[in-house]
Amino acid sequence: MQVTIVATQPFQDQRPGTSGLRKKVSEFLQPHYLENFVQSIFDSLPGHEGQTLVLGGDGRFHNREAIQTIVRMAAANGFRRIMIGRGGILSTPAVSCVIRKHRAFGGIILSASHNPGGSHADFGVKYNVGNGGPAPEVLTETIYARSKALTGFRICSADTVDIDRVGETRYGDLSVAVIDPVCDYAELMASLFDFDAIAALFASGFRMRFDAMNGVTGPYAKEILEHRLGASPGTVIRGEPLADFGGIHPDPNLVYARELVADLNGPDGPDFGAASDGDGDRNMILGRQIFVTPSDSLAILAANAGIAPGYRDGLVGVARSMPTSRAVDYVARALGIPCFETPTGWKFFGNLLDAGKATLCGEESFGTGSNHAREKDGLWAVLFWLNILAAQRKSVERIVRDHWRQYGRHYYARHDYEGLDPRVAAAVMSELRKVTLTLPGRNVARHSVTAADDFRYTDPIDGSEAEHQGVRILMSEEARIVFRLSGTGTFGATLRVYLERYERDHLRHGLDVQAELGELAQAASQIARLAERTGRSEPSLVT
Ligand code: G1P
Ligand code: ZN
Repeated sequence: MQVTIVATQPFQDQRPGTSGLRKKVSEFLQPHYLENFVQSIFDSLPGHEGQTLVLGGDGRFHNREAIQTIVRMAAANGFRRIMIGRGGILSTPAVSCVIRKHRAFGGIILSASHNPGGSHADFGVKYNVGNGGPAPEVLTETIYARSKALTGFRICSADTVDIDRVGETRYGDLSVAVIDPVCDYAELMASLFDFDAIAALFASGFRMRFDAMNGVTGPYAKEILEHRLGASPGTVIRGEPLADFGGIHPDPNLVYARELVADLNGPDGPDFGAASDGDGDRNMILGRQIFVTPSDSLAILAANAGIAPGYRDGLVGVARSMPTSRAVDYVARALGIPCFETPTGWKFFGNLLDAGKATLCGEESFGTGSNHAREKDGLWAVLFWLNILAAQRKSVERIVRDHWRQYGRHYYARHDYEGLDPRVAAAVMSELRKVTLTLPGRNVARHSVTAADDFRYTDPIDGSEAEHQGVRILMSEEARIVFRLSGTGTFGATLRVYLERYERDHLRHGLDVQAELGELAQAASQIARLAERTGRSEPSLVT
């Protein structure tokens, strides 16, 4: 195949955020925008020549075209083999699993996760390294630096590659393997969970609804839940990956998956409900009349992990992102294992998992996972819950209430102020950094402030530092307010305010969450002077 070096102008805005480079489709469609970023990735990967690259995406608009471009560039940059999910489809956790299983050098995931898709919406590119996890910050910064100075990219003039038929084809020195996107992943799940017990649960009449939100998880959920585990046909809804996700926001939370929530709360609702996001790494867990917060879900999985065959030997440790509630800390303490507190973003779990310091990890933003992969994994969390339900034969609500009774309840919510002027948002944060210093010893929402800081993390494995990871105000009785700016948005700035209050008394476990957190919310808004600075008296999204 003929390699051409195409002259290009660098772009100055290709800095990867919390999870890869995300931009509007219109920006990605600018001539050379995608090519420049991909070349910057390849230029930042010493030793990739002759190696294998995994490639796939969540099926959103531009997925298939981008795959063709990346195949031709990978060939021109010396990769020897490319593994592509059939139809260009691979969920984020499946990419992680395929990289690990086939010992690939790395992988490119085409996704903007839970952000909307379609010609007017978002597109994204993430690079994952050989352990199957997101590129660490040193690498994303190298890629960014390269992108600002790039003068040319390498591409082959090859024919269009057929990505719709499973099989391996040679194109010159390059071998293109189109793989079944579900197979390796399903096999891994079967090795971790007791599929017989779950199948017996379904056979007993247990009813579930899984909302794939027109994202990538549909084919995985149909194969595993309906075909292998015997859940009745139709258990998986919105199960075809669509280029525009059917016009919805494919983010599994109480707002964007409200029909599912209504089903579970209805008179004849199923026993268990779950949803996943555009690229399949997030999960939402619901029982009849109950929503399990992601923070509680992590704690409950940790407390019951021994039920699942893959975790029978126990957990070496757990990890959670700083804004995630401290429910799992209580379980870790009871189990006598360490609990690590990391900055937001899955990439910070990678070293802990690789070093064998943590088995389970999770984030409040509907992300849960384990050492089976190096990404959070939506369907994995759902199967874990099913395994627990199959073993305990209790309702989701009973499991959650029993957990609170044993460990106490962490009332928890996140208030998002979206679409802010980025300068205003940055000013709010810098003022908060100063103001909070004066708070220790004073009272906030009737709690006395015990400490306040701007979270900073030193990776216990490689010593790398991450600064400015969120302003936190810690109060007595385990109340807490955290402020941080989103790193995944493509429009304006989003301020996230995380509210948490611990309640030991089980007679006070059934109260309304937003009411219980009302005073903290008000205090947060006053401390940050939100109404005055942003003109907003209410958050735009509460999860
Ligand atoms: C958000 C979540 C974070 C998650 C990331 C990628 O990032 O808060 O926990 O890892 O999406 O799914 P943020 O927009 O807050 O930077
Ligand atoms: Zn995602």
